[in-house]
Order: sequence, then structure tokens, then C-alpha cells
Amino acid sequence: MIKLAILTAKGGTGKTTTAINLGHGLALSGHRVLIVDCDPQGSASAAFDVNGERGLADLLLDGKVDIFQVRPHLYLLPSGRKRLAELEIKLAARSDRLERLKNAMARLSGCDWVILDCSPSINIVNLNALGFAEKLLIPSSLDYFSLEGVKSTIELSNDITANGAGKLEILGILPTFYDKRTSVSRLALETLRNTYGKMVFDTEIRLNAEIKKSQWYRKTVFEFAPYSHGAYDYFKLAREVLERIQV
Ligand SMILES: Nc1ncnc2c1ncn2[C@@H]1O[C@H](COP(=O)(O)OP(=O)(O)OP(=O)(O)O)[C@@H](O)[C@H]1O
Ligand SMILES: [Mg+2]
Repeated sequence: MIKLAILTAKGGTGKTTTAINLGHGLALSGHRVLIVDCDPQGSASAAFDVNGERGLADLLLDGKVDIFQVRPHLYLLPSGRKRLAELEIKLAARSDRLERLKNAMARLSGCDWVILDCSPSINIVNLNALGFAEKLLIPSSLDYFSLEGVKSTIELSNDITANGAGKLEILGILPTFYDKRTSVSRLALETLRNTYGKMVFDTEIRLNAEIKKSQWYRKTVFEFAPYSHGAYDYFKLAREVLERIQV
């Protein structure tokens, strides 16, 4: 089972969009994929129109959860929204608070991939996600603050591995919202590639209105606009991710 967290310290960089479209891309290639919605905003759940009663919050608290099949080969574990936000206080006194996801997930089997859609913060849920995950994908929209977010996310990942809380390997940094018409987008991409070299995926996710529209209709980009740049880019990403993992 490949355990992949999608996280960066900056908000709105395409984490959820990548979780749902990469997840569906892998499912379309025949892999069994579970997307775990680790964000109290519940965007990944909303993207598939899932309003589950029980979610990650309940899994972390008492081990009980509902998993929804959202497409062939594609499953979703919803966040539990508000209850996920309240979890910090409820788990604060528990000594195993940073290992609860790892322990709970050990009982869930049968998936080839677990993709964790994280929120852009350092909280107990994300620390659980990073303790469980073995690979990290860092989406970076092409602007200055996002590049700073990449830097601090890499530092966080190194800290987690160094202090034994997990063993994270960076699968790749993903340029998102790429718009080659704007000089800032080109400059940020060049900076990203010069700074991080091979760590940056060859695939760039271009700015593409069909991606945004697809979410309005609760579809993935492959379903909504299969011939769009968005579908092409996420297909290319799925292929590159499989190459990097070599499965
Ligand atoms: N390549 C793209 N082209 C155009 N719009 C995009 C693209 N990727 C994402 N979006 C849109 O940008 C917005 C933010 O994307 P998304 O929700 O995936 O980011 P996020 O990193 O998960 O945000 P948060 O930090 O709030 O969880 C959404 O409205 C999404 O539809
Ligand atoms: Mg999100």
C-alpha cells in the first residue's frame, strides 16, 4: 500500500484538486485508491458530494468510520468536518495522539493507494497524516508565498523523519496554476526548478478553467472535460507518479 500525503503550508495551492484528480487518474488505471479527507473544510468530501455522518474525526477518536465508494476503484473517507476541528482538544491528553491514524489505518486494508488531502496548517490531524504517510507530494502554485510554503513543508518533513515520528520521503513538488503568459508564473517555475531540481515533477498543472468548473458539477476533470488541458496534465501526473513509485 502506498501512503501519500498531499500537503503544503500554504492555502489554495491545489491540494484537494490534486488529491481528487490524481486519485481518479490512478483509479482509472486500475489501482484501488482511498482518498482520506484530512481537512475540516471537507472539500474532498464535497467534491464527491459525500456528506458522511462519520469520518476521520470518528476514526481517530473511536476507530469507527464510514467509507464511501465514489467511483469504480475509488473510495473516500470523509473528514467529519466540525468534529475534526474539535479533535485537537479531545486528543490533547492522550499519549498516542500522534499515532492514532497509523494505528487505525492498520485495520483498513485492500487499497493500493491511500491519498491524504491535508489542510494548510500544522495541527494534530496533519501530524497524524504525516506520521502515517510514507510519501509526500507538495503542490506549489507559482507565486512567492507558495515557494516559501514549499520550503517550510520540506523542513517539517525533515523534522518528522529526523525525530522518528515518521519516515517521509518527498515524492515530488508539483507546480500548479501554471500560466506561461505571465512572467511571475515563468519566474516562479524557473526558481522552483533551479532550487529543487529533480524533486520537481516534469508535469506542470496549468491554470485551466475546466478544472474549477468540474468541481462545481461534482465531477473530476476526467469526467467533465476529458480533452481539456486539465485532464491531460493530471493524466500526465498520474503516469509520472507511477513511474516515480515504480508500480
Ligand atoms: N489548475 C487549476 N486551474 C484553475 N483552477 C484551479 C486549478 N487547480 C485548482 N483550482 C481551483 O482553485 C481553488 C483552490 O484549489 P484547491 O481547493 O484544490 O486548493 P487547496 O490547496 O486544497 O486549498 P486549501 O488550502 O483551502 O485546502 C479551487 O476553486 C479549485 O477549483
Ligand atoms: Mg484543500
